[in-house]
Amino acid sequence: MAKINFLDLGMQPIANNFLSDKSEIDDEYKFHLTVVFDDESKLVSLSDFVPPDLMFNDSYVYHSSLSKTMRDHFKEIATSLTKEFSPKKILEIGSNDGVFLKNFNKNDAISVEPCGNFAKMTCAMGYSTYQKFWNAQLAEDIVENHGKQDLIFSANCICHIHNLEEAFESISRVMSERGTFIFEDPSLLKMMSRRSYDQIYDEHAHIFSVLALKNLLLKHSLEIFRVENLNVHGGSNRIFVCHSNSRSIEYSVQENLFREREAGLDTIDAYKRFSYDVEKSKNQLVDLLNELKRKDYKIISYGATSKSTTVFNYCEIDTSIIDYIVDTTPAKQGKLSPGMHIPVKSPEPGFDETVDYAFLGAWNYEKEIADKEKEFLKNKRFITHVPYVRFIK
Ligand code: TMP
Repeated sequence: MAKINFLDLGMQPIANNFLSDKSEIDDEYKFHLTVVFDDESKLVSLSDFVPPDLMFNDSYVYHSSLSKTMRDHFKEIATSLTKEFSPKKILEIGSNDGVFLKNFNKNDAISVEPCGNFAKMTCAMGYSTYQKFWNAQLAEDIVENHGKQDLIFSANCICHIHNLEEAFESISRVMSERGTFIFEDPSLLKMMSRRSYDQIYDEHAHIFSVLALKNLLLKHSLEIFRVENLNVHGGSNRIFVCHSNSRSIEYSVQENLFREREAGLDTIDAYKRFSYDVEKSKNQLVDLLNELKRKDYKIISYGATSKSTTVFNYCEIDTSIIDYIVDTTPAKQGKLSPGMHIPVKSPEPGFDETVDYAFLGAWNYEKEIADKEKEFLKNKRFITHVPYVRFIK
């Protein structure tokens, strides 16, 4: 197996590990964030994985329900999956605060969620909840206690799992004969075309192409029968999987594979070009922010996202450039951003008329934010690096 290193994003902290105060800086966990392409399976992964319990624990701060975009997204998919597949037994892997699961009857649906704060929530809502990481033993326990599952759903979770061989084999075992496994994760093609290197952080152990997933799933007698391209999280794919030869394969699979091959995702050259573009993006962003700062403008960041952790640490952007970050998540407010230790504030009063420019850390919610911040946009500007460094009017 030939793994080729193609991108170095430097020393990085855990993307969601906001510090309570400066006394925690000395003990902050850091790791070298580099990315590899596996020439054989075509999988793109981090070279070194961060231990899961350092990332997913009782103080995990990302709540899926906090944004309207995501609430609507999960309601819509729950409704359409129910209509199309009429599943009797539903299992969600990585159910966060129950934003998807709550659309199903509590007697029919099971939650798997390693973060204690969220597991408590689905448990209180009445769902059978396993506060565990997904693995072979857990799959066996679920089959024994609840039988095989008709619909297995997972959003922004499978790409977190280090050992995909075990994860997919366990899914194959827990899924009923005519069952469906549906998962959504950031799209490698979208990341490469948007140069959104900030999709890469500790939690995203892999960034999936359909090409790689097809190869990996086949080893476990699983087959992709449909691919949907989504706008959420900066461009994701929703992958529909069945036991091999149990459904007809739809045209969307072939079409996505074709587009990925056309973009060169099966060869190292495309990744080398991406790496070059990432470095260029860094230089352009740092130059622009420095120039605005020299002119004495007040710059803040909008959305204390995992993505902005990657950008700020890779580009070494700290409080000498960004005064503070505004974010609506109460658990992030009053804290310091991972690695660069930029204070996080509530948008009220942080996002006031003294702000001249705002780096859009939450660029994947551009529309929702632009709608909300019409007043700011009348004579001020957001800055983004996606797909290239520019102002948003
Ligand atoms: P995500 O990119 O990982 O989904 O995180 C989005 C973050 O952005 C989350 O911390 C909430 C924050 N946010 C705001 O502060 N204001 C907003 O209007 C939106 C949409 C998100």
